Amino acid sequence: MKAMVYRRYGEPRDVLEPAEVPEPKVGPESVLVAVAAAGVNPVDWQTMAGHLDTRFDVLFPVVPGWDFAGTVVRVGPNVTRFAPGDAVFGYARQDIVHHGTYAERIAVPERAVAHKPATLDWTRAAATPIAALTAWQALVDVLDVHPGDTVLVQAAAGGVGSFATQIARHLGARVVGTASPANHETLAAAGVIPVDRHGDLAAELRRAVPGGVDAVLDMYGGSAVRLHADLLRPTRGHKRIVSLADDGVRDLGGRFLFAQPDAGELHDIADLIDRGALHVPNVRTRPLAEAAHALADSAGGMTQGKIVLTVREPAEDARGADS
Ligand SMILES: NC(=O)c1ccc[n+]([C@@H]2O[C@H](COP(=O)([O-])OP(=O)(O)OC[C@H]3O[C@@H](n4cnc5c(N)ncnc54)[C@H](OP(=O)(O)O)[C@@H]3O)[C@@H](O)[C@H]2O)c1
Repeated sequence: MKAMVYRRYGEPRDVLEPAEVPEPKVGPESVLVAVAAAGVNPVDWQTMAGHLDTRFDVLFPVVPGWDFAGTVVRVGPNVTRFAPGDAVFGYARQDIVHHGTYAERIAVPERAVAHKPATLDWTRAAATPIAALTAWQALVDVLDVHPGDTVLVQAAAGGVGSFATQIARHLGARVVGTASPANHETLAAAGVIPVDRHGDLAAELRRAVPGGVDAVLDMYGGSAVRLHADLLRPTRGHKRIVSLADDGVRDLGGRFLFAQPDAGELHDIADLIDRGALHVPNVRTRPLAEAAHALADSAGGMTQGKIVLTVREPAEDARGADS
């Protein structure tokens, strides 16, 4: 099958190339999916650069990518929830980095897969799993956001931020979001109080939320984490701060989160999307062959929404396919 691969760590344009690779084998609890679209996430180029080398065993050549949407082709003998022809999406991370989603086919454990929201096309479905699950696990599972909370979301206009601000508001919270000024109008239209992330962030935040906040979703760590933590007022006896980037948040009483595949939560997210309660941010597409450009765009810090690679049209007869 066709895939994009890299054989050593490096910059996308230096190491990523098209290749013919063997189709992945399908384990007893896994499904084989014909990939229609693969979502691009910062973790894809971070892994390619070697930044996650201490966290994952990496087996070269690597097919990058963890987000996908597509059609089930075959199922392992222990699989109960899926059949060939089902339209699905998921977060395909496993403990060994080797077979990713920038390929025509991917084998994924059933626990990482859900039926695709019927209201989404393939590209918007592929844009969803990692960003939405990360936001969900931070706000629901860890921060336990409740009506009346004021929640600070860093990078509120990015992929994770776009889902996080909507989920926090859906949970009844007031939401403050940091972003570049170019994104403030969009945030304000979505009911988020925008704060300029450039310049004197401490002063900007104090002005926006003089009474402090109840919970924080930090995405970049560094000096901003302490700034964010200092804004927290004590509620329910513990520091309600999650960082997606900085283990040091533990020293401040918070939690580091590495989002995990979760079919049940993905199903709940799909349900919210189909009910119109959660919207997928703008998607920019590129063909699979342009994956290196897509990753360079992601590494360069795109300003809004998601990037998705189109892989191929799944079988016409896929159940639940695009309407
Ligand atoms: N631990 C995990 O499980 C996990 C899961 C998902 C993502 N992440 C991490 O979370 C971060 C955001 O991911 P994403 O998918 O939302 O990325 P994204 O879609 O590329 O969005 C990133 C946004 O963040 C803002 N930004 C860029 N650099 C920043 C900085 N140094 N400080 C504050 N804001 C900055 C930019 O917004 P403006 O243009 O408005 O400035 C940009 O649009 C990435 O670093 C990613 O690796 C971690």
